[in-house]
Amino acid sequence: MTNKVTIFIEDLPYQVANDINLLQACLSLKLDIPYFCWHPAMGSVGACRQCAVMQYQDEEDTRGRLVMSCMTPVSEGMRISFSHEKAEIFRATNIEAMMTNHPHDCPVCEEGGDCHLQDMTLLTGHITRRYPGTKRTHNNQYLGPFLNHEMNRCIGCYRCVRFYRDYCGGNDLNVFSSKNNIFFGRAEPGNLENEFSGNLAEVCPTGVFTDKPFSQHYIRKWDLQSAPSICTHCSVGCNTYVTERGGIIRKINNRYNAAINGHFLCDRGRFAYQHVNHDNKLTQIWSRAQQSQTTHIFDNEQAHSQLSQWLNETDAQVLGIGSARSSLENNAALHKLVGGNNFYAGIANNELKQLQLLTKTYESKQVALVSLSQIEQSDAVLLVGEDVTQTAPRLALSIRQMTKNAGIAQAAKLGIKPWQDEAVRNISQDSKSPLIIINTDETKLADVAKYNLKLAPNKQLELLIEIEAYLTSKYALTPSAETFSDLAIAIAEELLAANNPVVVTGTHSFDIALLSACLRLSILLRKHKNNSGFYCATSSINALGLSLLAQPDHDIDNLIHSIKSTPPTLLIIMETDLYRYCANEKLSKYLDNIKHIVVIEQIMNDTVKMADLVLPAASFAEQHSSWLNNEGRLQRAYAVMPASDMRQTPVQWLAQHNALDDGQNLYRYMQTITPLLQPIMQIVTTDKSDFPVARQPMRSSARTAFFANIDVKEYAPKRDKKSNLTFTMEGVAGFRQQTLDNSQHKITTPVTGVWSPKWNSNQALNKDLKQSSFQDEADSSLGADLGLKIFDQLNSQEFTVPAAQIDSPSQPLNNLSICPQHHIYSNDELAIYSSSIQQLRPEPVISLNQQQANHLSLKSGENIIISSDDYNISLPCFISKTLADKVVLVPFTEFLRLGTNMHVATKHSAGNAEGECND
Ligand code: SF4
Ligand code: SF4
Ligand code: FES
Repeated sequence: MTNKVTIFIEDLPYQVANDINLLQACLSLKLDIPYFCWHPAMGSVGACRQCAVMQYQDEEDTRGRLVMSCMTPVSEGMRISFSHEKAEIFRATNIEAMMTNHPHDCPVCEEGGDCHLQDMTLLTGHITRRYPGTKRTHNNQYLGPFLNHEMNRCIGCYRCVRFYRDYCGGNDLNVFSSKNNIFFGRAEPGNLENEFSGNLAEVCPTGVFTDKPFSQHYIRKWDLQSAPSICTHCSVGCNTYVTERGGIIRKINNRYNAAINGHFLCDRGRFAYQHVNHDNKLTQIWSRAQQSQTTHIFDNEQAHSQLSQWLNETDAQVLGIGSARSSLENNAALHKLVGGNNFYAGIANNELKQLQLLTKTYESKQVALVSLSQIEQSDAVLLVGEDVTQTAPRLALSIRQMTKNAGIAQAAKLGIKPWQDEAVRNISQDSKSPLIIINTDETKLADVAKYNLKLAPNKQLELLIEIEAYLTSKYALTPSAETFSDLAIAIAEELLAANNPVVVTGTHSFDIALLSACLRLSILLRKHKNNSGFYCATSSINALGLSLLAQPDHDIDNLIHSIKSTPPTLLIIMETDLYRYCANEKLSKYLDNIKHIVVIEQIMNDTVKMADLVLPAASFAEQHSSWLNNEGRLQRAYAVMPASDMRQTPVQWLAQHNALDDGQNLYRYMQTITPLLQPIMQIVTTDKSDFPVARQPMRSSARTAFFANIDVKEYAPKRDKKSNLTFTMEGVAGFRQQTLDNSQHKITTPVTGVWSPKWNSNQALNKDLKQSSFQDEADSSLGADLGLKIFDQLNSQEFTVPAAQIDSPSQPLNNLSICPQHHIYSNDELAIYSSSIQQLRPEPVISLNQQQANHLSLKSGENIIISSDDYNISLPCFISKTLADKVVLVPFTEFLRLGTNMHVATKHSAGNAEGECND
């Protein structure tokens, strides 16, 4: 527990938390203590010697001794001097020594202006170079599509390897050589393999690792505009700053949210933005003339008149498809236009069923939904049926941190604080909090798992049901006479031994029986352990939100079934590529029978090609929007730039036709669809203010010469009529505005960047984090916008999760289970437009183990055919050494298209991947 102690700095008393180190305490008091190796998430190792201060025994002590503040716990009555001459000289000498080999290349270094080393050097007063010698130089390496490497800039703080290896579990980045010639890189040039490598650009305090896609359209930090946003590439809902210049997204930075992503993003979230800049993004309104099949470019008026005409035809039957990758506002606008009965969710039937089961359970409050930070603090995780590194990557990083808690607890018994990283690791050695993984295949968390069970889905289900039965019996007044397997007992006992165990699963298995079993287990645990939690990774950023708007069975499978039997006169498809869910030729035939198809979409895809009217949609970076993550956390994102060309938000496209404006009425309508969305007003009321807040960084060049090649005068920047942020470099930075809010002025604004006087890099955040341990969800004014958890806002509803049946349709007994194989760089529909991500997409294969391959007489590389009612795929077979028996893994995108009723048909000779439709 955090208590306060009084420390004396330069003889003045200050109250600080008692569980932090002296460096952290001084930073929280806004003192400019320089440091390099300490990181709030990784703790202290005392490697850089930069944070020295003078410590005194007591009031009588006039001599004092130099201590590293990051390695020194605060204590009651402690006396220190930050400005003692000896401490100042020590720090200045230290940084001067570091700079002997550092190239003085700030003007050409991409880190310049956003560099912790630059800030600390100036802070320490080292402004003149005295060392006349030759600098040590290194060769740089190719590290893949995400990061540049410029080793000569290294100051040897070890943050990179500590982050990559100790924090993320990566093993292909290391430190080589010794003394004054150390090298941080890979044994050989090649792609960095860890899914969090991009964070090195923020973790490294210098310009050794820099964002490679950013360098391809580089802009200095002081010329970038940024806005607070939400990552839209999985259901976790990490917080980001999206940065822009001239209508081009330049890079994504982490935005600290204490409950979700903390200091780190995954590489998909950081680098998947390039679809917004892509050549294939839709910018024009297209209309296809039915007779001539020719395409015309429409203006706004023509588009609305066309849509109005189709909506008002006398025999009009209108259906709409909403999108799990579109905002709540956009989905609600379409819902209003077509009506609830005609609104379909752009997700598969199995998934909608899973989502609605989750919602009902969450409403009943029988499980406690936990955040990523709560998972990091828990002491046991049962992870079932979900390869979270691939489907919700940031979650995997939190689970990895959870396993360290046994060691932290062991160290605590010896009086060692969690931030004393080296000491904690020495004491804990291999002791880990239990992570129990039940999955079809080995995952990247295997190295920290206590149990790595690779089982076919029906075996997973059997085991879960057995664990539930064992717990029921154990809690019963009269234990059952039933006998249980050693494995079920061992897993149950691990959960019972923990103080706050968490059951983690996901919807990516498409297995409703497995989800039911996880929910029931979690409910049972919660009855007896109040601190136990539940977390379910859903498919897309707004999948849960979309499921709240859709009626049961109003999903893509049923929509396709419906248009096949009774084609509507008008189908409005919003941000959903139907061809991801259905075989090409079949779907095209069904769509051909529909009189008018309107597609509202951001980027060219096969569905757009079938449209009679294409309305270009604004991307996440061009709209103010609300998103509901998988914990039911409602979050707000802001546009960083106005929508380009003819692009508009779907809300704006539909506003003329659904009798809703794009403001309060829309939100009121949302609240009428489901009471769960009642809290929406609370997160949108701050949008408008007369007080303009610029998206500029605190230190801005104010250069706005965008049109110098066209005209001598500069055009006025576009106004943002819908928020208190302006699309301009002028105004007041969010940082200051927040400060105003903390005083008398009741203006609440989103913070648009991280900055502190003299601290221009992202490390400025550490001066704003509150003193207490980082386990407090609301520990920072910068991270204070944690979103709103909707399931906490309402009274609980009655609901019983149905018991999972071993012979449920998704659980084939004795047969082969065909399961989806997920990959971080292949799953997401929009991420694949990023060229850097494309380079890391694996070749599609169908995986099975050797036993199964023998059974089917298959050799590695031979093509294998999987068939369903509508569709065949033929892909090379990959023989996996880690896959469970009786399981076949099919790439997720093909799995979606195959739908239900798929089976292994046969094999044919080696060849390229192909997919075809059965007519
Ligand atoms: S590469 Fe960067 S993070 Fe790694 S040791 Fe060098 S300066 Fe520190
Ligand atoms: S974990 Fe998901 S939400 Fe977070 S950065 Fe990665 S893709 Fe985005
Ligand atoms: S920050 Fe204290 S020694 Fe590096």
